[in-house]
Amino acid sequence: MAGISTANAVSPKQKLLSGGVALVTGASRGIGRAIAQRLASLGASVAICGRDRAALANSAEALGNTGVRVFSAIADVTLSADVTSLVAEAEAALGPITILVNNAGIGLFGPAHEKTEEEWDRVHNTNLKSVFLVSRAVVPSMIRRGAGDIINISSLAGKNTFANGGIYCASKWGVIGLSGCMAEDLRDHGIRVSVICPGSTATEFSGRAPKDPSRALGPEDVAHAVETIVTQGPRSFISEIHVRPLRKP
Ligand SMILES: NC(=O)c1ccc[n+]([C@@H]2O[C@H](COP(=O)([O-])OP(=O)(O)OC[C@H]3O[C@@H](n4cnc5c(N)ncnc54)[C@H](OP(=O)(O)O)[C@@H]3O)[C@@H](O)[C@H]2O)c1
Repeated sequence: MAGISTANAVSPKQKLLSGGVALVTGASRGIGRAIAQRLASLGASVAICGRDRAALANSAEALGNTGVRVFSAIADVTLSADVTSLVAEAEAALGPITILVNNAGIGLFGPAHEKTEEEWDRVHNTNLKSVFLVSRAVVPSMIRRGAGDIINISSLAGKNTFANGGIYCASKWGVIGLSGCMAEDLRDHGIRVSVICPGSTATEFSGRAPKDPSRALGPEDVAHAVETIVTQGPRSFISEIHVRPLRKP
């Protein structure tokens, strides 16, 4: 099910991304919601997806209040049919996607040797295969227009190894590898493929509150990194950003 809202004018100082269209996956809560809000505050029209109908509607309503055009659709990014419809409907509603943020992801922790094949598939389909599926659906029109930004949300877990991280770390290392290869495939088309590696961020993701919330990264810190990428100069290519808390939690 999809919904579109057309809202009031955006104020002049918020026009940096005016005319742009962003698709943010997994924007019903957490980091994705904050990224969608940030891109809307910069003037982009925003398309969002997730699986939780009520949370997605709440996120879309908040976006509508920023004054940009908003498209939201229930879509599971692990399913190619859902992804194909999502991209086609978002582009029909808002125009060609100029910014794609592959954010949707899940965590699952514990020794890899104790995990099931179903758990491996669930994590890798959500965190890694989805980046392939959604990017593949969006890239052809970016190539035709000779421009675009694709930003993949990996993790510092994609740079490190730790006990109980096997399946999750593997998926996030995969996102970094895929991002680097896609970047080389697409840079001569004027398309930047970047990856952001946040450290532990206070969302519902881990299911536990940070030890010291005043020191923890928040979703808006990751949104700021996305803003840095999409507002860089036209000749530069910020390929990878690591986001750590200033003071160790
Ligand atoms: N929080 C951290 O400490 C942290 C650190 C580094 C990196 N990250 C990465 O940042 C991203 C966002 O994490 P978060 O902390 O914001 O987690 P979160 O609060 O759990 O949000 C995850 C989002 O992804 C969506 N999602 C999950 N599976 C999906 C699917 N199959 N299809 C469509 N949407 C799906 C969820 O929506 P529905 O449930 O409605 O589908 C939700 O909107 C993830 O890729 C995560 O790995 C998080």
